[in-house]
Amino acid sequence: MAQIEVIQGDITVLQLDAIVNAANSSLMGGGGVDGAIHRAAGPALLEECRKIAAARRGVPGGPCPAGDAVITGAGNLPCRYVIHTVGPVWHGGGSGESELLASCYKKSLLLAEEAALKSVAFPNISTGVYGYPRDKAAAVAIAAVRETLQGTRGIGRVLFVCFDRENYRLYRKLLG
Ligand code: APR
Repeated sequence: MAQIEVIQGDITVLQLDAIVNAANSSLMGGGGVDGAIHRAAGPALLEECRKIAAARRGVPGGPCPAGDAVITGAGNLPCRYVIHTVGPVWHGGGSGESELLASCYKKSLLLAEEAALKSVAFPNISTGVYGYPRDKAAAVAIAAVRETLQGTRGIGRVLFVCFDRENYRLYRKLLG
């Protein structure tokens, strides 16, 4: 069974197999962790995202709809791959937000498994610009990761990377 850990810090400095980006459906970058990852990765990452977006132009709600994920190289980042996933925007919880958020974690881990990756780090998807309440998002994230890891064989390490103390304390409490 893979080890699940939580740390506080900046996801862009981690030398893991993959870090996950909280992207938007255009895959063309943005603020928050998306901005930090693209800044640290350099233009090659955006170029690769642009190609993927062009190939997925016809996807409804796409190129990368909420709940879906795509994998790219990492440009100048110290990690090997970036998995871009798009979290749901919080609209009060009645529009399937929890299922979409869970899908972000599940699909990201399945992409990592397919690429034979051993270590993956997640930011707190949707809890910034997209307004998902942190406590609800943390519970969904941990449950989705635990459930998905039951079905994977190669992933040995999953990190939740909290940028702020509140999220860090939340995850520590929930992970026990
Ligand atoms: N390392 C780790 N976590 C970070 C970093 C970083 N360098 N920078 C920000 N975060 C954290 C935020 O503090 C928040 O807890 O990532 C979490 C997700 O927040 P956002 O980046 O705002 O992502 P999200 O809420 O999913 O909104 C996505 O924001 O940046 C745009 O293009 C993006 O439109 C998309 C939307």
